[in-house]
Amino acid sequence: MIELKSEQPEDKWEVEALYDLCFAPGREALSSYRLRDDVPPVAGLSQVARDGDGILAGAIRFWPVHIGDHDALLLGPVAVHPTRQGEGLGGVLIRDSVDKAMESGWSRMMLVGDFPYYKRFGFAQLDRVEMPPPTNPARVLGLAIKPGAWDGVSGQVRRWQR
Ligand SMILES: CC(C)(COP(=O)(O)OP(=O)(O)OC[C@H]1O[C@@H](n2cnc3c(N)ncnc32)[C@H](O)[C@@H]1OP(=O)(O)O)[C@@H](O)C(=O)NCCC(=O)NCCS
Repeated sequence: MIELKSEQPEDKWEVEALYDLCFAPGREALSSYRLRDDVPPVAGLSQVARDGDGILAGAIRFWPVHIGDHDALLLGPVAVHPTRQGEGLGGVLIRDSVDKAMESGWSRMMLVGDFPYYKRFGFAQLDRVEMPPPTNPARVLGLAIKPGAWDGVSGQVRRWQR
């Protein structure tokens, strides 16, 4: 049985180790990390998934960002331990987070990732939203949590300042 809980400070290094295992070395050099520097992840939305023995099976984090005058959630990283991949856990983490984001009043979510995976959750390419370079524009994807929330939103994604 897998249980989702919101990430706590004591989970931090275990989650980092999972990300190190699941992503290529140097992941923190990616431009999306510059939007996370010195900004805390969104409390309550960043979650860990543990099995019945308490072993970490997956994790998802969210950061707040701005695009022009609009706020958005930046999804990622999301990762599932290699021994648990393909069992639907990634989908559970993403769908549950979208539900929680909606309950918390967020309107829109974005990420940098593989469209062939994320399209099943309703993500589509954001043609007019620019991540810090170098980012492949085809990997900049968005999901309207509230219908039409990405309509008219364009420009550069900026680090959260509030
Ligand atoms: C991507 C990831 C989170 C998915 O988690 P998961 O629990 O394995 O995913 P699910 O079980 O919900 O879905 C599995 C399906 O997604 C597909 N899939 C997984 N990664 C994919 C990708 N990058 N592109 C396209 N399809 C992908 C699988 O082929 C499988 O397809 P099927 O349903 O047709 O069999 C996980 O594989 C992972 O941690 N990968 C390494 C880290 C990573 O790439 N994170 C995403 C960064 S953008």
